[in-house]
Amino acid sequence: MTTDRLSATALGHAALKATSKCSRTLRFLGIFRLACPSLATRSAGRWFGVFLPVCVLTLVAGCDQMARQPRADAQEASRFFPDGKVNQAPPVGTVARGELARDAVLAERPPLTAALLERGEERYRINCVPCHGLAGDGLGTVVQRGFPRPPDFAEPRLVQAPDRHFLKVIEHGYGVMYSYAARVKPADRWAIVAHIRSLQLARTADVKALPEEDRRALEARP
Ligand code: HEC
Repeated sequence: MTTDRLSATALGHAALKATSKCSRTLRFLGIFRLACPSLATRSAGRWFGVFLPVCVLTLVAGCDQMARQPRADAQEASRFFPDGKVNQAPPVGTVARGELARDAVLAERPPLTAALLERGEERYRINCVPCHGLAGDGLGTVVQRGFPRPPDFAEPRLVQAPDRHFLKVIEHGYGVMYSYAARVKPADRWAIVAHIRSLQLARTADVKALPEEDRRALEARP
């Protein structure tokens, strides 16, 4: 009973407050209209005539359903392209960014320097040694655990093969060997080829062709 009476009083208070707020607003509007009646009606007319349509148009333009637009995933069928495929071949003659610079590096053999050989040995040890072995004989650790054995770099066919053959194998892979194009930069491919050449020389050169000093040092080794 008490609670009912209490809530009724609270309701009454709220109603009174609301009406007094309302009457204040109405009074303010009345004063405004009295002070400048023409301005009030004209600006209201403008508001409804111009701003409102603009607002509505802006809102409608925002509802273009971008989140639900048709989307194509790779390898899907397409009704947009005449050949019915989503994946489209690049136009003939397209050159990928950076491809010309890469080709320029591969086109010309860099001068053979100690720095190039050093870089080549480092890259060879990182990328090729697991299969081809430190000496290039094709007896790397992976091969000793069952991976197919690559040919020995010292075999006559590979000693006589041009540098381009090695560049091609690195870029495209060969038989069961996969491509190293993504792992070995073009300049480093030349460095690796230089190191492979030094491995071939180390295993095929005639000891008598060495300078006297080097030959003695070699023969003194156990
Ligand atoms: C995972 C093991 C593996 C790695 C790593 C590897 N190769 Fe090979 N490579 C092979 C195998 C196996 C063959 C023989 C492939 C065949 O005949 O099917 C081969 C063959 C080759 C040949 C001989 C191609 C010919 O004409 O017979 C060259 C040259 C060669 N690799 C270079 C490289 C270089 C350079 C690297 C490092 C950038 C490298 N390989 C890294 C496994 C490997």
